Amino acid sequence: MIVGIGGTTRAGSTSERVLALALKAAEAKGARTELFGGEILAKLPLFNPEVSAASPERDALVAAVRAADGLIIASPGYHGSVSGLVKNALDTLDVLRDDTRPYFDGRAVGVIVTVDGWQAAGATLGALRAIVHALRGWNTPMGVALNGAAARDTGGLFDGEGRLADRRDAWQVQAMAEQVVAFAAMKRAVG
Ligand SMILES: Cc1cc2nc3c(=O)[nH]c(=O)nc-3n(C[C@H](O)[C@H](O)[C@H](O)COP(=O)(O)O)c2cc1C
Repeated sequence: MIVGIGGTTRAGSTSERVLALALKAAEAKGARTELFGGEILAKLPLFNPEVSAASPERDALVAAVRAADGLIIASPGYHGSVSGLVKNALDTLDVLRDDTRPYFDGRAVGVIVTVDGWQAAGATLGALRAIVHALRGWNTPMGVALNGAAARDTGGLFDGEGRLADRRDAWQVQAMAEQVVAFAAMKRAVG
């Protein structure tokens, strides 16, 4: 199972659409997937390390990450970094700290950022990869950074069928998703 976490509450969220495309690419490689998008993430209680605020959404997210064979996380660049909505979801996973397999331990994690400028693309991608590292995940070699502002000049990030319009953008997503699935398969093969 590959678990996707991310997106925004905005209708047509680009980060969530790209996350869904990445999960589709993982499914094409034989993986089952589960998506925790902006709507669900917005229902998570604001994380408080001293108060365990259980909620159905929190419990579902924590259970899914515990069971995951790999993860894909997508965030917009907000003020040069990861959005609060996505960071709160990641903070929420602190309850996994004392698991025998803590946080993202032993799992590959692919990241996606959508932004409106290259400066935030690099900064947000780096921030998200640092968080994955802190949570003991294995960052995939390929991280995806898509610039919606640059794409606007050529008709937008997506084509009429909802695919990524630019073949290099599509290739980044495909390669990252395949790396997440391949790492899970390698782990299973060597035990
Ligand atoms: C509060 C806020 C802050 C943002 N800050 C930046 C920024 O610092 N740099 C940037 O390139 N884009 C910034 N953006 C643009 C978003 O990163 C961009 O529109 C992104 O694709 C939105 O993701 P979504 O389509 O999933 O909602 C910001 C947008 C919002 C709403």
